[in-house]
Amino acid sequence: MKTYRIAVIPGDGTGPEVVREGLKVLEAIQSKFEFKCETAEYDVGGERYLKTGEVLPDSVLEELKTFEAIYLGAIGHPEVKPGILEKGILLNLRFALDQYINLRPVILYDKRFCPLANKEEKDVDFIVVRENTEGLYCGAGGFLKKDTLDEVAVQESINTYKGVERCIRFAFEYAKKRNKRKQVTLCGKTNVLTFAFDLWERTFYKVAKNYPDIKTDYAHVDATCMWMVKNPEWFDVIVTDNMFGDIITDLGAMVQGGMGIAAGGNLNPEGVSMFEPIGGSAPKYTGKNVINPLAAICALSLMLDTIGEDKAAKSIEDSVKRVVKEKLESLSAGKMGYSTSEVGDLVVENLT
Ligand code: IPM
Ligand code: MN
Repeated sequence: MKTYRIAVIPGDGTGPEVVREGLKVLEAIQSKFEFKCETAEYDVGGERYLKTGEVLPDSVLEELKTFEAIYLGAIGHPEVKPGILEKGILLNLRFALDQYINLRPVILYDKRFCPLANKEEKDVDFIVVRENTEGLYCGAGGFLKKDTLDEVAVQESINTYKGVERCIRFAFEYAKKRNKRKQVTLCGKTNVLTFAFDLWERTFYKVAKNYPDIKTDYAHVDATCMWMVKNPEWFDVIVTDNMFGDIITDLGAMVQGGMGIAAGGNLNPEGVSMFEPIGGSAPKYTGKNVINPLAAICALSLMLDTIGEDKAAKSIEDSVKRVVKEKLESLSAGKMGYSTSEVGDLVVENLT
């Protein structure tokens, strides 16, 4: 039987609650399909930092490199200054494991939960391929004359041909494999960011030459936001840089019904990938058994799809779809009509 080793980082806030439901679904699905996941839990996160001052010890990072994949709940603690855990754990892992793709599907499971007027399930079904190791996230820049009236702060966007090319190539490959509208949209800002997005644009059309069956399309990032709301059905695969990808995927999450259902994967197609619900640690809902675990369950499905258990992934996705359509009153925390653990149970019961 195929066995996978999965590292689990429940993390902060509601992370452990949603990961618990994900693992419940994993347990159930692996007995239906012929594979086994061995999990090992790591306690990195806000609590460990507050207790020991450690963010992501080198020894943990080295161990994480040996797993098939990482399943992450959430990182972020109200008593820790913003930036420490995000940079020290989440971004550190993305960079250290060279997870150069952040894959974020935007799928509407039930039109009742779409904030857009007159849009149905078939209209909201696209995926964002966000570059995940470069751009404004590199931490390049600095201060001059800090804390004076002459202060200067510079934050630079780093874009390498290698980084841009591999991201764009992934997007075209994905559009081919996805086999839906067969279209890749480059989301940029070529009218203002005339260096960075010049590189992106040239690389985009160069890579596109190898994919004659895939249509190309371009939209500035501001227009992308407009079209995502007005005509989401125009999109199939959107490829963009790290910062724009961060922003438009929060908009995407709202279009698909909220953070309760939005999942993502940090992929290194040649290495160790990490899967997470994208909603964060939601401290105010912690421990109340009210948070929606479906984003974490969808992240699990994305993980199984990526490691090669695509039938199991599809089965989870279908169950989530059924549960959303037939059971839930809302996708928001505390309003689902069920508790966190009951929603996990429903997904298990609806697996076929
Ligand atoms: C995300 C988050 C992170 C990001 C933060 C927490 C650093 O917003 O995964 O989208 O900006 O990438
Ligand atoms: Mn974000």
